[in-house]
Order: sequence, then C-alpha cells, then structure tokens
Amino acid sequence: MSANVEPRVTLLDALCNYLDVTGCKRVCDRGPCTVMHNGRTAYSCTMLAAEARGQDVRTAESLGGAALDPVPAAFSECDAQQCGFCTPGFVVSIRAALDKNPNATPEQVEAALAGNICRCGTYEQMRCAIVQLCKKGG
Ligand code: FES
Ligand code: FES
Repeated sequence: MSANVEPRVTLLDALCNYLDVTGCKRVCDRGPCTVMHNGRTAYSCTMLAAEARGQDVRTAESLGGAALDPVPAAFSECDAQQCGFCTPGFVVSIRAALDKNPNATPEQVEAALAGNICRCGTYEQMRCAIVQLCKKGG
C-alpha cells in the first residue's frame, strides 16, 4: 500500500485518512495507535509517515484475513474485548512480543504491553489469551 502525503502527516493519519486502515485509534490514553514498524512496536501518532517510507509496517488488519493470526484468534476464544477500541494496539503489541521471543512467558508478554490501557478492563480475558498463546509457542 502506498499514498502520497505531505511531509507533516503522521503515520496514524496516513493509515486512517489516506489508506482506509482504521484499526489504529487516536486517543492519547496509551497505545491504541500501536503498529509494528520493522518488527518493533511504535506509536503511529508520534511518527511521520515519511519515516516509514519503504519500510515494513504491520497493523492489526495485517493479522486478520483468511489465515487468522493466533493472537486475534486467542482473543476471540477468550472473549478478550468489549468495545474493541484498545484491541488493535494490544494484538499488535502481543504479536511483536511473541515474534521477538516465541518462548516468552506470560509475564514477559505482559511486560511488553506496558503503555497499553483497556478502559473496559478486559485484562483477565487478555491474560487468558496470553497464557494460551505462550503454551502454544506464539
Ligand atoms: S494516540 Fe496516543 S499514543 Fe498514539
Ligand atoms: S475493550 Fe474497550 S477499551 Fe479495551
């Protein structure tokens, strides 16, 4: 996917407003705008789209589709969302943590989620998903 944007446009705005990739959310209450940038988590609201030019950017959308990634699948099995506003940020952060260390413990994955907040408080269900993912090795 590509778009021509002005140099001042953030990656978040480029995704949502120019590419119709709307999973990332702007709220500035921590993390719902998280994407994977070259395999590492990044807040897309704090990056310029130009900084990601020609580089690998993955969003929650890239974990969906016919071959559903194990992270959103585990969220579904554990009923780990309510309003879903925070979910794209959490699933991207968990995917990045497990890609970095497929043998991560649930505690290590949870540590990688620092900065993500769920206002609906679905933490116990997310914990269920994380435990399930760690048992399966990501
Ligand atoms: S929208 Fe607040 S951290 Fe990105
Ligand atoms: S599910 Fe609503 S904010 Fe997390």
